[in-house]
Amino acid sequence: MNHPDTTTLFSPITLGTLSLPNRVVMAPMTRMACEQHIPGEANAAYYARRAAGGVGLIITECTFVDHPAANAYPGAPAFYGDAALAGWRKVVEAVHAAGGRILPQLWHAGPMRTPGVPPHPAEPAVGPVATQQEDGTAVVGMSRKDMEAVVQAFAQAAGDARSLGFDGMEIHGAHSFLIDQFLWAESNRRGDTYGGAVENRVRFAVDIVSAVRAAVGPDFPIVFRYSQWKQGDYAARIAHSPAELEAILLPLAAAGVDIFHPSTRRFWEPAFEDSPLSLAAWTRRLTGKPVIAVGSVGIDQPLDLAIFEGASISNQPTPITTLEAALARGEFDLVAVGRALLGDAAWANKIRAGQLDAIHPFSSEALAQLA
Ligand SMILES: Cc1cc2nc3c(=O)[nH]c(=O)nc-3n(C[C@H](O)[C@H](O)[C@H](O)COP(=O)(O)O)c2cc1C
Repeated sequence: MNHPDTTTLFSPITLGTLSLPNRVVMAPMTRMACEQHIPGEANAAYYARRAAGGVGLIITECTFVDHPAANAYPGAPAFYGDAALAGWRKVVEAVHAAGGRILPQLWHAGPMRTPGVPPHPAEPAVGPVATQQEDGTAVVGMSRKDMEAVVQAFAQAAGDARSLGFDGMEIHGAHSFLIDQFLWAESNRRGDTYGGAVENRVRFAVDIVSAVRAAVGPDFPIVFRYSQWKQGDYAARIAHSPAELEAILLPLAAAGVDIFHPSTRRFWEPAFEDSPLSLAAWTRRLTGKPVIAVGSVGIDQPLDLAIFEGASISNQPTPITTLEAALARGEFDLVAVGRALLGDAAWANKIRAGQLDAIHPFSSEALAQLA
């Protein structure tokens, strides 16, 4: 009786070299649970549980590339150095053994870095231009040489992802972190060819994608995550119109992005005035590339970063019918699920089986634990 149609959600799909058993993706979620920035057995088991629980593709928590100012969180995993890479190899093996696929989300925090965070506590935060964080901490404007070092760090990490057996990689170009700060006009007021007009603001991201593509070869999937919303400003926009969005996405597609992952807080909401199309649907229409949608699947409250400061969590489930219909209409290809998968590692299998009453809801306990 209580068994919604999930035919498309659980149908297999092949995107280039990536063959997936269904459309459910685990959204990248920072857990800050890596000692010495090295993924350990608990991290591998945490991801493997989601693979065993029916997730088709896992995107890891953001993991910082080899640049001294890249990290912002204690306990975040590194994506360089023998020990961290050996830890990641075990994560890949555990997920594959459970029948899953996995991509690392490669990341540089940029101006969101809190100075004092290891492994390079003395290193200041960097961004497209010199600025200040809310508490007055200085952010250093990047030289072209600094930018090139970051480009090379992403390329190195992507090549390592391939060597470690990952099924592709994702570039974190969202949520106010370094790449997003270049994309956003408010934060990128550089006077050179990397700032100002939208064609310039996308150049740094294009450089990274091009270097990554050169490092991994033609067949290794590259996913690019971007967002309109910023930390501290959910109404922010990198693109105010479909034309502006196109000016960002087409150069990225030409540089080698295979799959786009527009991050929204509610996957169905219209992206622009005068059209009902979501950001995912626009992304697919403008680029012709496969798209991962995300936002409030299985949970009624849009992501609010205040939950990390202890704000109360509403965990009312939402019906899966709107999602199934959007997938069936071809608005997007895959859907990422975040908080619902923290609440229940077997969320996907339970949705598939129609065991809705058996799903453990997202909670503050689920947020606190690596269960
Ligand atoms: C605990 C937590 C950590 C997150 N960390 C990341 C991250 O490392 N990288 C990222 O791109 N998004 C991150 N996000 C955002 C999620 O990937 C996702 O876009 C968001 O939670 C909306 O999906 P949901 O409504 O299904 O939870 C995080 C979200 C949560 C709840």
